[in-house]
Amino acid sequence: MQACALYLVLLALSVPVQIYCQKKVDKRWITAQRNTSWSSQLSRPSGFVSRAQYRLKKRVGGFKPSVTCSNYLGLPYLENIRRSRYSICGSTPLAHLDDDNILCKQQSACLSAIDCFTAPFARHGNSTRASISLCRSQNLVLDSCKFLKNEREDILLKNFPLPEFGSVKVACALVNVTSAAKLTKELHWLQNIHHDVWWGNATQDSPTVFQACSPNSSTLVTTPTMFVMRDRHTSYVHEMEVVSMAFSFLAALDPKDVGVHGVQVVIADRSPVTSFLETWSRVSRPHQLRILASDPFPPNTCFRSAFHVYASAGGIGYNVNPDTVGCESPVVMGFSHWLRQLYGEGDSSARLLITPPSAEAVAGPAAEEAGVRGLHPPTGGIILKNVVWLSRRQLELVRLLLNASTSWISMRMVRNEAAVVAGVLSAVQEWNAESCLRQRFERTIKSEYALSLVNVNPVHGGAMNSARQTMNETDSTAAAGHRRNLQGFSQQQHYYPKLKRKEGLTRIDSTDIWPRRQMLQDASSGGCSSSGAGGGNTNDNGSGGGEGCNSVVGESRDGNDGDVNGEAGDGGGSSQSYIIGNNAIALDRLWELDNIINGGCRRTNVLFKFVEGDFSDESFNMQLQTIFRTGVLVGVHGAGLAHGFFMPPGQSAVLQLLGKSFAKVTASNIFRNMAANMGNYYEDVVYSDVDIDVTVLKAAAKRAMDFVARKVMELQMRRNGALRLVLVDQSHFSIVIPSEEQCPSNATLRALR
Ligand SMILES: *[C@@H]1O[C@H](CO)[C@@H](O)[C@H](O)[C@H]1NC(C)=O
Ligand SMILES: *[C@@H]1O[C@H](CO)[C@@H](O)[C@H](O)[C@H]1NC(C)=O
Ligand SMILES: *[C@@H]1O[C@H](CO)[C@@H](O)[C@H](O)[C@H]1NC(C)=O
Ligand SMILES: *[C@@H]1O[C@H](CO)[C@@H](O)[C@H](O)[C@H]1NC(C)=O
Ligand SMILES: *[C@@H]1O[C@H](CO)[C@@H](O)[C@H](O)[C@H]1NC(C)=O
Ligand SMILES: *[C@@H]1O[C@H](CO)[C@@H](O)[C@H](O)[C@H]1NC(C)=O
Ligand SMILES: *[C@@H]1O[C@H](CO)[C@@H](O)[C@H](O)[C@H]1NC(C)=O
Ligand SMILES: *[C@@H]1O[C@H](CO)[C@@H](O)[C@H](O)[C@H]1NC(C)=O
Ligand SMILES: *[C@@H]1O[C@H](CO)[C@@H](O)[C@H](O)[C@H]1NC(C)=O
Repeated sequence: MQACALYLVLLALSVPVQIYCQKKVDKRWITAQRNTSWSSQLSRPSGFVSRAQYRLKKRVGGFKPSVTCSNYLGLPYLENIRRSRYSICGSTPLAHLDDDNILCKQQSACLSAIDCFTAPFARHGNSTRASISLCRSQNLVLDSCKFLKNEREDILLKNFPLPEFGSVKVACALVNVTSAAKLTKELHWLQNIHHDVWWGNATQDSPTVFQACSPNSSTLVTTPTMFVMRDRHTSYVHEMEVVSMAFSFLAALDPKDVGVHGVQVVIADRSPVTSFLETWSRVSRPHQLRILASDPFPPNTCFRSAFHVYASAGGIGYNVNPDTVGCESPVVMGFSHWLRQLYGEGDSSARLLITPPSAEAVAGPAAEEAGVRGLHPPTGGIILKNVVWLSRRQLELVRLLLNASTSWISMRMVRNEAAVVAGVLSAVQEWNAESCLRQRFERTIKSEYALSLVNVNPVHGGAMNSARQTMNETDSTAAAGHRRNLQGFSQQQHYYPKLKRKEGLTRIDSTDIWPRRQMLQDASSGGCSSSGAGGGNTNDNGSGGGEGCNSVVGESRDGNDGDVNGEAGDGGGSSQSYIIGNNAIALDRLWELDNIINGGCRRTNVLFKFVEGDFSDESFNMQLQTIFRTGVLVGVHGAGLAHGFFMPPGQSAVLQLLGKSFAKVTASNIFRNMAANMGNYYEDVVYSDVDIDVTVLKAAAKRAMDFVARKVMELQMRRNGALRLVLVDQSHFSIVIPSEEQCPSNATLRALR
């Protein structure tokens, strides 16, 4: 019995112990501990901050934040939180909790302690504000039912409990928080409602605490527990604020027990369930999120280690401080990476538990032989990023119909929303059309079409004979032909031996096999748009590779499919083609070519997709699936812009549309801060009157896309070197077979015997 309980304390729950203990301890009250990837990574927010700090320092130009930026949003911010410790019960700092949580070995040692912390005061309009705080307790006994029983009269505060006297019990002498806050100016923050709820009616009751917290107690919870009181359950941005606060406090205190065991989140307010609880339940993993009001703990449950979180304006997720609008913040970046990781959207610099297959492993030997390494799909291809227009149409309509609209809220109805949607959509299309990739397509499509009329590619069914014929006629596989098609190449002329190419059809794209010097020459003298292209069989040059404009790379030369490398297209020439393997294209070389032939086009492998984000009937998870792939978030000031925290830091953009009359509202700073702190692009798009100026918005959207595309590409190049497009096709891939270890051969088995 004693041994079993001690095991629980140590949280060393191997399976047999757990079964044994279940007989004695109601499993409902004890959260089983598991070692999972979640707890090992996500329960250490400090790791996310230090990785963000490291990345900032490592980049070109380094990271030299101002003192103000550091104090509010850098590592000193976390240090400031740590230093703000004020003990309101018991004199022992809770550091010894980190000492493997071995407390209450004897009943007489089951003392309680409560430490409270706050964050640096931030300017909020003309006042300063620091109402955010967190307390950490040890050996706290809670009677959930008494805690939640009474109702508050104040309509704005009715979601907060009004605990009965004695519903929170401790074994230490409590400071009168109200008078402490009144007496000492620096402790002003202790006055917020959160402290009133938890400590206003707490009592010292050592015998009860000793009993409930003893190692053999059946109501002892040893899993670290985080009690959360949400501020306003109807506002996503305020939900985000509380989560951000939990994050920064955990990052600051870096509690060892949470790092090892994770933390069970218990919602202690009395607001209804909202979709944002999904995020809290992910913070809680591997433990289950618990809602106190619908699933109370039994009377006198002892929490060995608990955190009490509450925020009301001021956390990094609701930062209205005008002094930090220009700051980049490793804390906010770490927060964003952590949020994404909660939903399985990996922080690429984080250690991944399952290494994703590299592009060469998927794409097969050709890519490998071409020296394409270190790519992780899909980073080798074309990156598609969403441009999301956040619509408030339905929400504001309901508000208006209910007469719930106040003047400043109703100003966020966009009268010309149809024009705005059309404008942003056309900005996206115009931007994409300037891409070199798209222009290549434009140049190729007409001739491809002409070819297809003569010889339909027998892909799915169709005339089998002609299919085989085709395959035999080429030296390489048919699949290679399809692939080239997709890459914007012309088909090999063997496919279409009888086709007489029309004058005027530009076929510049396959000049790759020429030595570049010659190619450049030809390009400047009209390229191969007409000359020789149709002939196909003409061997223009003795080097063995050149077959005119209409030839393919590499494999056609020596008829050895797959045996292609970066130099294959060069013939005897001195420079390289842009094809670096069957499955890969070097984009910088392709663009060099395009630039000469075509003049300016946008050198990018990033394209954008317009999404009309009317999320009013979409689940939170579905919304996030869109947001995770979003590069540019556009919307009128409102909580939907808080989605920006889920976008990848340093490579995203936010456009906040602000009616002139509320452009100067302090709350507008939330999203200015959010974007800048994450290293993202930000613009105010101010409009007067009720309609948004679509021309101004379009221009801003294009600047935002420019930024995102540039950053996405920089990041890719930093990680993987020069940009390449990699195509995973049906014929070039490595098959997966069990290893000798998994499926030993007879010989191995014999040897083992
Ligand atoms: C669980 O995690 C702790 C701390 O990271 C480690 O010491 C321990 O070995 C892990 N246990 C198992 C079974 O993986
Ligand atoms: C802030 O203070 C300044 C100077 O005291 C005053 O002019 C201004 O109106 C104040 N702004 C707000 C929003 O209270
Ligand atoms: C404390 O408890 C008493 C009675 O149980 C109640 O009337 C009072 O409102 C409570 N005060 C607080 C701050 O919770
Ligand atoms: C705490 O102090 C305030 C005023 O300083 C007082 O009104 C209140 O009764 C005190 N509370 C307790 C529990 O002593
Ligand atoms: C726990 O053990 C102590 C002796 O170590 C005993 O006095 C106490 O009654 C036990 N409590 C329970 C709940 O079994
Ligand atoms: C809203 O206000 C209008 C006029 O002020 C009134 O006619 C209407 O009944 C109100 N609607 C509701 C749902 O209260
Ligand atoms: C294709 O070529 C192979 C070997 O060269 C030959 O056996 C086969 O009959 C040919 N198929 C057709 C349809 O010509
Ligand atoms: C082949 O290329 C060489 C040098 O690149 C050039 O001098 C020669 O004229 C070319 N031959 C033909 C047939 O075009
Ligand atoms: C391996 O052994 C099994 C049974 O011992 C036999 O049926 C099988 O043919 C053997 N395979 C080879 C490749 O020798």
